[in-house]
Amino acid sequence: LDVWMSHGDRVTALPDGFHTLAASDNAPIAAMANTDRSLFGLQFHPEVTHTPQGQTILENFLTSVCGCNGLWAPAQIIDSIVEEITTQTQAGGEVILGLSGGVDSAVAAALLHKALGDRLTCLFIDNGLLRQDEANSVMDALSSQGDNRLQFRVRRIDAEKVFLRALAGVTDPEAKRKVIGQTFIQVFAKEARQMDNVRWLGQGTIYPDVIESAAATTQKAHLIKSHHNVGGLPDKLPLPLIEPLKSLFKDEVRRIGTALGLPDSLINRHPFPGPGLGVRILGEVKPAYIDILRRADALFLQALEEADLYDQVSQAFAVFLPVKSVGVTGDARRYQYVISLRAVTTTDFMTARWAELPHDFLGRVANRILNEIQEVSRVVYDISSKPPATIEWE
Ligand code: XMP
Repeated sequence: LDVWMSHGDRVTALPDGFHTLAASDNAPIAAMANTDRSLFGLQFHPEVTHTPQGQTILENFLTSVCGCNGLWAPAQIIDSIVEEITTQTQAGGEVILGLSGGVDSAVAAALLHKALGDRLTCLFIDNGLLRQDEANSVMDALSSQGDNRLQFRVRRIDAEKVFLRALAGVTDPEAKRKVIGQTFIQVFAKEARQMDNVRWLGQGTIYPDVIESAAATTQKAHLIKSHHNVGGLPDKLPLPLIEPLKSLFKDEVRRIGTALGLPDSLINRHPFPGPGLGVRILGEVKPAYIDILRRADALFLQALEEADLYDQVSQAFAVFLPVKSVGVTGDARRYQYVISLRAVTTTDFMTARWAELPHDFLGRVANRILNEIQEVSRVVYDISSKPPATIEWE
């Protein structure tokens, strides 16, 4: 079997009766055995995409070895989460939640709405870093202004100017994340303070967010990126948190969302990071760059849909590189920017492979971008897997 081994943790002492079978530079006891008792141990990650039969290994362990039954079913999880929310909020008062347009916050909102009805108010902040037409389509899909069955109470806040002003001159990826996170908190807190009787803050934090931001609290995992949806708001807004998805992985969140009646277009959407296009424009975020990136990204996503490839990759997007390269249009020289296309396959987003999209498809997308966006002179395709790369470029 192919299995994935990549970590800083190591086994340093053998149990009685065991001897070492294999070692790596980092792990002095990577595999061990007690041959008298026919016990073998191997260090690897069964849960990641790079271990192709990992799910089967875990299933066998849980069902055949431990004798567990598979009780995880969306309906049961929904009932128990709704019950938890009801108990947690029985003192009364309203809940606010920031809707991002992504699956996580929408599913968190749907669970809170199921438990609390109109005691939930969602705030949708347009930070100016959303994709083409995104703000309108989110409002159409989820709010009572749209033609849908969910009808959450959503307030839309247009804060593009505030965010872009705050980002001016900021180039470091982590600094940009912090600025976006802090601005989000300020805008959100200002709106929340204007509402009466808000007692709780709902958040769509999912389990991988918690793990990847764990360094701050446990010092165990390296801080990969400071995901702004974990932590932050409660300091500024002293409200207790309700995080209904905190122990769930993305695929589980999707199954729950479907069971709750969220539209397929929203459930099957690729994830989109909180800092949005802000981490897909390398270096300083400028309005002109956002505009170019939005158009290139929309062409790529549209082409993926048209070629029935959108659902075959887990996440796809364009990245804006603020470097110029030479090109030629007719007789004229073009000296313009570079767009990188990125598509990955993964189930857990902790590891990911670059997607082997057909060459003719990539060629067509590149042509469309180069023909339709004058400010781009070159399109490249990112063939880095995670690790060591991350999915986003910043
Ligand atoms: P990386 O780039 O860390 O991304 O491999 C893993 C997944 O997380 C998303 N991502 C973020 N989501 N705030 C978010 O809400 C962030 O700062 C952030 N950074 C990355 C990324 O899009 C991918 O799905």
